[in-house]
Amino acid sequence: MKKCLKNPIFRIISEIVSNDGIPAFVVGGYVRDFLLNRKTSDRDIDILVVGSGIDLAHKFANEIGSDTKVTVFKTFGTAMVRYHEHQIEFVGARKESYRRDSRKPIVEDGTLEDDQKRRDFTINAMAISLSRDTYGEFIDPFNGLSDLMFKTIRTPLNPDKTFSDDPLRMMRAVRFSSQLDFNIENKTYKSIIKNIERIKIVSKERIVDEINKIILSDIPSKGFNLLEQSGLLALIFPELDQMKGVEIKEGKQHKDNFIHTINVLDNISKKTDNLWLRWAALMHDIAKPKTKRFNPQLGWTFHGHEYWGAKMVPDIFRNLRLPLHEKMVYVQKMVLLHLRPIVLSQEEVTDSAIRRLLFDAGDDIDDLMILCEADITSKNEAKIKEHLDNFQIVRQKLKEIEEKDTIRNFQPPISGDIIIKTFNIKPCKEVGILKNAIKDAILDGEIPNKYENAFQFMLKKGEELGLEKRT
Ligand code: CTP
Repeated sequence: MKKCLKNPIFRIISEIVSNDGIPAFVVGGYVRDFLLNRKTSDRDIDILVVGSGIDLAHKFANEIGSDTKVTVFKTFGTAMVRYHEHQIEFVGARKESYRRDSRKPIVEDGTLEDDQKRRDFTINAMAISLSRDTYGEFIDPFNGLSDLMFKTIRTPLNPDKTFSDDPLRMMRAVRFSSQLDFNIENKTYKSIIKNIERIKIVSKERIVDEINKIILSDIPSKGFNLLEQSGLLALIFPELDQMKGVEIKEGKQHKDNFIHTINVLDNISKKTDNLWLRWAALMHDIAKPKTKRFNPQLGWTFHGHEYWGAKMVPDIFRNLRLPLHEKMVYVQKMVLLHLRPIVLSQEEVTDSAIRRLLFDAGDDIDDLMILCEADITSKNEAKIKEHLDNFQIVRQKLKEIEEKDTIRNFQPPISGDIIIKTFNIKPCKEVGILKNAIKDAILDGEIPNKYENAFQFMLKKGEELGLEKRT
């Protein structure tokens, strides 16, 4: 296990604790990820000390440079120091007991084993000694190593106790399962089903952190299936849960929109690590339950689901405590536009429609195309190929038009100010009418995207509106 300790940080800590005669260990995610061969070069390091974590943090900070900042979390008895790319967390070994209505523990000092017991999963409860005489010794009382080998998520204690102590761990179980492609051991999984209601005492910020990590997994559907099947999804993200299921009427059936959505998310995850584009995939059909209608001629329809979906995005983001800034606006835009390239790929593509799509999507056009391609979840290979070929034509056209007309960051060449000055008018609705007419004429290819052409066009349109050019 000494290999796990090759970072010089561990030797520095070892010197300090050995001179003071206090046992200390590296624990948790650092050990787990090292054994899994996952990247550990910039991850957080958790140091457990049988004594005061805060004292050790100060001593360590002194050792690496007297101006090093120590951030102390008094209520938890922990402290954090940044060193190069690492955030090092110093924690005193403890026993914890929890109140039913809160995630905040009542903390008492404890031994290494007390501390390992109170951790969430066996794979996170492994420790490596940093004391000089036992340096590198591996302490694994709950067989975390074997669970790592068999890709199993299991709690060290009775799972009812572990989850009831801290219900966020139910989300963490699902997240690790999705992130590491592990399975949740049966008893542990049954306990999640039993305890799902306890998730209500967990803050939404912590829940959404875990949802984001699930979304960023290689195959996020694994996590979302577990959330749905365990019943957690209905409590934390009901709009997504309501997408599941199929209905049949007059022999006509629609697809299960939940399954479709998580397949789209898996598809997009092969192409991008952009969290917000992945969120857009998760939300693109979110208004399907709301807009679902049955029409005997047409079968099932979801008219306007892209529009209603975009309208739902802010409330969902607010409820989940996701940021309401430009990332939300981006997801909204993706949801609103997600059908546009599909429509184009099914019709004869006109230059004008391509220009409008470029104008509406702007710099996000490439992301929109990735979303649309991910949206093809047919099982029929020939159909998939046909769709992808059509999208290829749309992509080619987008490229040609963009090269010719540079519409992506298009700003109409005539501003409201020019209109006002030319006709010697005050700001009024005619200014807006003229601006729109110029924009439409350019996007429809009636006039080139040039100042002189737009100016002449404006004069003509102005005249039609009864405006006179100032002489
Ligand atoms: N832990 C726990 N219960 C929690 C959160 C954390 O028992 N609700 C313990 C686990 O032993 C975990 C360690 O604290 O390994 C550190 O927690 P954290 O940094 O949140 O997670 P990591 O396991 O390090 O994993 P990641 O960095 O991927 O979140």
